[in-house]
Amino acid sequence: MEPTEFPRIFRHGRDLYTENATPGVRVYGEDLLKESGTEYRRWDPFRSKLAAYLLKGGPSSLFERVRSVLYLGGSHGTTVSHLSDLLPGAPIFVIEKSPLSFAPLLELSRRRENLLPILADAQLPERYAADVGTVDLLYQDVAQRAQARIFGENANACLNPSGRGLLMLKVRSISQSRTARSVVAEARRELAASGLSIGPEVDLAPFSRDHLAVPVTG
Ligand SMILES: C[S@@+](CC[C@H](N)C(=O)[O-])C[C@H]1O[C@@H](n2cnc3c(N)ncnc32)[C@H](O)[C@@H]1O
Repeated sequence: MEPTEFPRIFRHGRDLYTENATPGVRVYGEDLLKESGTEYRRWDPFRSKLAAYLLKGGPSSLFERVRSVLYLGGSHGTTVSHLSDLLPGAPIFVIEKSPLSFAPLLELSRRRENLLPILADAQLPERYAADVGTVDLLYQDVAQRAQARIFGENANACLNPSGRGLLMLKVRSISQSRTARSVVAEARRELAASGLSIGPEVDLAPFSRDHLAVPVTG
């Protein structure tokens, strides 16, 4: 197991791993690997867009000095569980609107103290902003038509002005007919209108088709 630039992310061959905060427990059937008494979980880039982003060159400095996270679209907690591994001291507020997905997320949070799931619609940040407070990292993966607007509104409600964000943009949820370039250009305009600075987007192929990761700063 080789260390990477971020202390709690590791590499083994081509794969990324995080140190398992709940040894012996798998979250989504991922491989576990034990070395020198420490257990690591393989971070599958085909299941987690955040792992894909890092493998495609996204900087792990994204996690530096992060004391709290707002995660929109937690689903069953695949990516959330790895964030939980790598930010042990940081509360991670996870918004999920589907009760079916929320149940396993809630179960996961019973074993992982830094996970704070909230059953809510990310289109209504006013419903949870007071509980969440100000966060250093905003992450969104909701595959909705209004993805950029949702991100901007949550950033305005909860993101520290010196914080960072990552929007996993699903092009085909926004338009089936327009080119990816025009969809991304429009999303960038919407994010800029929310007062965010936008970095170069990263295409997540071949791990995740039709998805681009758009990094922003507050
Ligand atoms: C692609 S999945 C997320 C996968 C997850 N981020 C991961 O990597 O493990 C999208 C999730 O967003 C949720 N979602 C969609 N629209 C939402 C909204 N407006 N508010 C909250 N959650 C939403 C869906 O219910 C679904 O669970």
